[in-house]
Amino acid sequence: MAIPQHTIDQILDRTDIVDLIGQRVKLKKTGRTYSGCCPFHQEKSPSFHVYRDKQYFHCFGCQANGNAIRFLMDLESRNFIDVIKDLSSQTGIELPQDNQDHKRLSYKREIPKVTATATTLPPSVPQSSDVESAITIPTDPFEAFQNYPDFDPAQYDFEVPQQPITQDGNLYDLLENVAQFYERQLPQSKSAQQYFKKRGLSAETIQFWRLGYAPEDWQHLEKAFPQDIEGLKLVGLIRSSDNGRDFDLLRERVIFPIRDPKGRIVGFGGRALNDEIKPKYINSPDSEVFHKNQLLYGLYEGRKQKAQNWLMVEGYMDVIALQQYGISGAVATLGTASNTEHLNILFKQNNQITIAFDGDAAGQKAARRTLEIALPLLNDGRELKFFVMPKEHDPDSLIRKEGIETFHREWQQAPLLSDFVFALLSQQYDITTPEGKSQVMAELNQLTELLPKLGSYRYLLRQFFREKLGFNKKWQPQVNLDASLSFNIRTKDEDFAVAILMHHPFLYIHFEVLRAFIQPHELLAQVLATFDKIFDELPDNQELATYYILGACSAYHLELAEIMQRTNIQTLTHAPEMADKLASEYSLALQEKYLKDKLKAPQSLIESRNLRQQLNELTKKISLKLIHS
Ligand code: UTP
Ligand code: MN
Repeated sequence: MAIPQHTIDQILDRTDIVDLIGQRVKLKKTGRTYSGCCPFHQEKSPSFHVYRDKQYFHCFGCQANGNAIRFLMDLESRNFIDVIKDLSSQTGIELPQDNQDHKRLSYKREIPKVTATATTLPPSVPQSSDVESAITIPTDPFEAFQNYPDFDPAQYDFEVPQQPITQDGNLYDLLENVAQFYERQLPQSKSAQQYFKKRGLSAETIQFWRLGYAPEDWQHLEKAFPQDIEGLKLVGLIRSSDNGRDFDLLRERVIFPIRDPKGRIVGFGGRALNDEIKPKYINSPDSEVFHKNQLLYGLYEGRKQKAQNWLMVEGYMDVIALQQYGISGAVATLGTASNTEHLNILFKQNNQITIAFDGDAAGQKAARRTLEIALPLLNDGRELKFFVMPKEHDPDSLIRKEGIETFHREWQQAPLLSDFVFALLSQQYDITTPEGKSQVMAELNQLTELLPKLGSYRYLLRQFFREKLGFNKKWQPQVNLDASLSFNIRTKDEDFAVAILMHHPFLYIHFEVLRAFIQPHELLAQVLATFDKIFDELPDNQELATYYILGACSAYHLELAEIMQRTNIQTLTHAPEMADKLASEYSLALQEKYLKDKLKAPQSLIESRNLRQQLNELTKKISLKLIHS
């Protein structure tokens, strides 16, 4: 049984590798990864790591590595099909029965009498080479001759069938042919060309997006594709009226062909040529190959252009205008509201994504809704920005008016989630009054409940709000320091780590991993040991947590106070996103430093090799971080 790659991808998407491995190996969260003793070789100290963000495991001891499927195959000595069947039933993603994929994508294609329709036949160039399921279309002995109007079958000594016969057609091929048909109609229509011109699209843009035109005629597709009526109905491009007459879904509209991530045409959007005609846009309905909830317009094109920064906008024309002006990472949903799946697709392209909203009331409502969908997804360093358009603008009109530089600048200045949420809530309530403040906090608490439990983000966000609303009595060290003493002390990375930990105790999850390497005489080592003892009992409230920790570290509170003052960490970590970033950066830098120290005097050859491997991995991680930030 051949399983198509997209089904395997879907199954992996729905399987959480941490849960899966966690059911078989005892795992402990260390920073952003999970670690435990490797099930593939004997060991006492854990060198087996599971990465949730990459859905990947790696053992630094024996180099076993792979995804969830590989893990089960290796651990339980099972074959691929066996494992995938298992995961399929656990995730509810169905596997194609033998041939089912083929059936799903095919329809009955009429073969009319050869001579009668030879001139009206569409170019039938099946382009199924990139269709991953192995589909074999039976070759028809006449096909090669169909394009010759004066082909006379009688001259040939094979039998001509009297009745129409059928063969299998493939939906992807059909949609590709329809797209080509619409593209060819555009030069025939003055009004359609004028429409695109009015909207400022260049010839290259029209070609790049394969824009087209669906003519007025109620049955133009029936005429152009007489053999493919069944297929056209399956993809919703031909509808049947009550009296049984067929008609085309898209008429007298400019056409936006929609491609899936592999670049195959899977559906169409059609826009009326003027704003009086309602509805303004008509999209083809969902079909076997077209699932609006899992598709983003512009994703394929953006990837092809190697887009780095992704921006979710509302409409086709926004995506296209931005691309024409040089912004290749814009995508839009297909006339539906954005959902978890859409955001997940974008977060796979980049950890930081931006969502654009119109400046009006509807835009605000949409922003709030999207916020609630997005919050549960914000783990493992993901960041969300909110780009609110000036009043009366959408991205299309804004970039036309302001040009790319201003657009870019405003995009860059778009608020991060924390600032955006604060602005949103403080508009809603009067935050100069105690009542208003507590209403804001109550709403915020509801929102942060949606954040992933394991992350530090919910604590950071709450603390950020408390500070903004003036709730937090900032902890100020009450010690007199001799200025000359501290003047020349160079602040070490360890000191920054200590300061971050004191101010944001929940960021311990980033630093815990250091316990394996750190020199015991470091103050940070003692602080980490204290955290390890009390972390599970820390009060939920950030401020209380800091006091709790200070109490537990009272033996060296003078040193702590001095570090807090010298590093001035409050200012550096004002935005929650910054605090999180700084913590993970300091943790990585320190890991690197300690590994290098250890490498200078390894105990054994094996240890030296392991350390080198760990260092390699770490360096990779650090350079990845540099690319993303
Ligand atoms: P908008 O109506 O917000 O307008 O549609 P727009 O994108 O600015 O359209 P232009 O610039 O006037 O051409 C946003 C998106 O909502 C969907 C379409 O996907 C459109 O791109 N939509 C809109 C529909 O599906 N049906 C409609 O009737 C209107
Ligand atoms: Mn618009």
